[in-house]
Order: sequence, then C-alpha cells, then structure tokens
Amino acid sequence: MNDVPLFAPTEEHEAIRDACRAVCRDKVAPHAAEVDQHATFPDASYDALRAADFHAPHIPEAFDGVGADALATAIVIEEVARACASSSLIPAVNKLGTMPLLLAGSEEIQRRYLPPVARGDAMFSYCLSEPDAGSDAAAMKTRAVRDGDGWRLNGAKRWITNAGVSDYYTVFAVTDPDRGSRGITAFVVEKADAGVSFGAPEKKLGIKGSPTCEVYFDDVHLPPGRMVGADGEGFKLALRTLDHTRVTIAAQAVGIAQGALDYAKGYVKERRQFGQPVADFQGVQFMLADMAMKLEAARQLTYVAAARSERSDADLTFFGAAAKCFASDMAMEVTTDAVQLLGGYGYVQDYPVERMMRDAKITQIYEGTNQIQRVVLARHLLK
Ligand code: CAA
Repeated sequence: MNDVPLFAPTEEHEAIRDACRAVCRDKVAPHAAEVDQHATFPDASYDALRAADFHAPHIPEAFDGVGADALATAIVIEEVARACASSSLIPAVNKLGTMPLLLAGSEEIQRRYLPPVARGDAMFSYCLSEPDAGSDAAAMKTRAVRDGDGWRLNGAKRWITNAGVSDYYTVFAVTDPDRGSRGITAFVVEKADAGVSFGAPEKKLGIKGSPTCEVYFDDVHLPPGRMVGADGEGFKLALRTLDHTRVTIAAQAVGIAQGALDYAKGYVKERRQFGQPVADFQGVQFMLADMAMKLEAARQLTYVAAARSERSDADLTFFGAAAKCFASDMAMEVTTDAVQLLGGYGYVQDYPVERMMRDAKITQIYEGTNQIQRVVLARHLLK
C-alpha cells in the first residue's frame, strides 16, 4: 500500500471539535435518554446542529455548505455520537445520501439537491438494501424502466435510516436485469413523488431516535434529471459511497465508546466499596486502561481513513472497511465493559451506559456487517 504522509488534526479541526462538543453538551446530550426511551426523532438536536452548521458539514461551499473535509466531518459525527448516537445519524446519513451526488452527479442535480441539505431545509437518505438483498446488495429487485424521457420505479427498500423524515433518497434500482451488478443505476427520489410510501418504524435495540423503515415505490414516475451518474454505474457508485461513509460509522463508534468511557471513568472515582473508590482497585484500572488504549487505536485508524477519504485514495476501500470494522468491534467491547464497571447500575436505564451499549451494536451491522468488511479487506489484500 502507498505510504501516506503523517497527518494530524489541525488547530481548526480541534476548534471544530470544541465547538461541536459544546453544542452537544448543552443541546444534544440533555435529550439523549428521552429520545431513546420514547423512540422519537431528536428534533432538538437537529435544530441545534442546524444552528451551528453541524447537520451536514461535508457539503462544499459551492452548494451553500460549510465545506468541512472528511476528517472534520468525522470529528463532528464522533462528538455528536459521544452525546447521542441517534442524533449522530443526522450528519452521517446526510453524508451517506448525498455522497453519490458528490461523487458522480451532474452539476444540475448537485445544484438542485445539495443546497437544501446544506441549509438544513431537507435531509437525504440512502436506499440500497432490500428485504432479500442485504449483504448481497447486487441481488436487488427494485426496478426502473424507461418511461418517456424519464423512468418508472417499482420495488421496496429496507432498513432505510431516517426514512420518512428525509425529503430526498438516493435509490439504487435495476435498469438492465441481464447485466447483473452492471445493470444497476442510481436515482434521486423525493418523498413528495407520487407513489412513494413508508412502512412502520422498526422497533430496534438501539439508535431508537433515528427512524428505520421500509420505503415503497409504487409506479413512481421519475422525470428526466433524476439519474445520478451513468446508467449501469449505480452499483459501483454505491460501493464507492460506502468506502467514504464507512469512515463516518467508524467515527460514530469512536464517539459512542468515548461517551461510555467518560461516564465509567467518572463513576469509578465516585463509587466506593470496601472503604475506597473502586477506581483504586487495579482490576478496575486495567479495564479502563484497555478501554482507553483500544479506543485511541480505533480513533487513529479512523482519522487515517478520513485522510484517505479526503483524497479518494486508491486504498480507501481497505481503510474505510478496516476503520469501520475495528472501531465498531471496539465500541461493542468498550461499552460492554462500561456497563460492567457500573455493575448493577450499568444495567438500568437510570444510567446512560446501557443505552450506549445498545447503540454500539448497530455499528457492527450497518453499512455492511463486519463479516462483509472482512470480505472487503481480504479481497483487497489478495487482489
Ligand atoms: N468501489 C468501486 N467499485 C467497486 C468497489 C468499490 N469499493 N468494490 C467493488 N467494485 C466493483 C468491482 O470491481 C466490480 O466491477 P466490474 O463489474 O467492473 O467487475 C463491481 O463493483 C462488482 O463488485 P463485486 O463483484 O466485488 O460485487 P459483489 O456482488 O461480490 O459484492 C460486496 C461485493 C463487497 C459483498 C458488496 O455487495 C457489499 O459491500 N455488500 C454490503 C452492502 C452494504 O454495505 N450495505 C449497507 C447498506 S447501507 C446502510 O446500511 C445504511 C442505512 O441507511 C442503514
């Protein structure tokens, strides 16, 4: 693999972290438990993130965005996830949904759909998976056929994050069934298009404040100008997108784990047993040391992957998958250990670490299970 010059977050990156952390402390964290308990969309977080331009920071200035680079975007997602994982899906899924347009969209489609997201007037989701096409994404059945100058879309997508609250959707559909993964094309579908509807929100283990639904397309007419990239190039575009956005899932995992470690660290200093703070026991100290060490390793890998994402580096496929896989496995471990450090208190909803443990689990599953990441890693190594 190519040598990559050493990178470090700049002062500007650290200033973005400080600013985002303050917004999250004051306006996101206070609602995290309630959002989880009632499975409600975090409106207060969305408002606060919009007011501070953290809701879709990756959108370039040319499209009314703030033009944060991939590392700054990762830092924002990390900080939001540290406070509330559900809320971190606002910037993360806005990036996922719009990335195909940024990578391959015409200037016309970019000008039409990116500014509303940048301004916080619209959110954007990504529709790849289907009930029978999850890891094997190319087995999708959603079909787009020519209809005059436009297209007619039929099918169903599943596990769509922020479905229903997003106004726009990048939808991958089969346009030539004889060409397998080379017969898939990407389109922008609007929530307001006739024939678009949504299933009931899934009842999930975690990230309960971010709705996950099926999305149905019943004879949806797509006018000209909705295709993203070229006809037949959609599957590669879907995978190129995921190369970039697996970095944001890694950042989310790092943030969730940091939130759990911070809480556990504070708790063990306060909690007294056998006449002393439990932090004085070496067994507890060793657990904390391992948690912090693994967390920092995941953070560094995530930031290196973000630097690669910024440059669309040839090895991004490897680094995106590695960061997502490593950071999410780490987050599951660290949040589980945080629950353990709190003992019985860790297991109840009066304390935040059980929520963090439930939220961490999805990072091992979405944007490709960690088994699929290992497939991607091995293919890259052996090609
Ligand atoms: N970038 C660009 N092109 C790529 C690529 C990449 N990273 N990886 C593969 N390709 C190309 C291949 O070169 C190949 O091109 P040719 O047709 O020219 O040969 C083509 O794409 C097909 O590649 P494969 O034959 O390797 O494809 P496959 O069917 O074997 O699938 C896979 C590969 C890695 C398993 C892929 O299907 C995959 O990543 N699956 C997981 C899907 C996934 O992550 N889903 C997440 C959904 S999004 C989500 O979760 C968010 C949400 O809202 C919940």
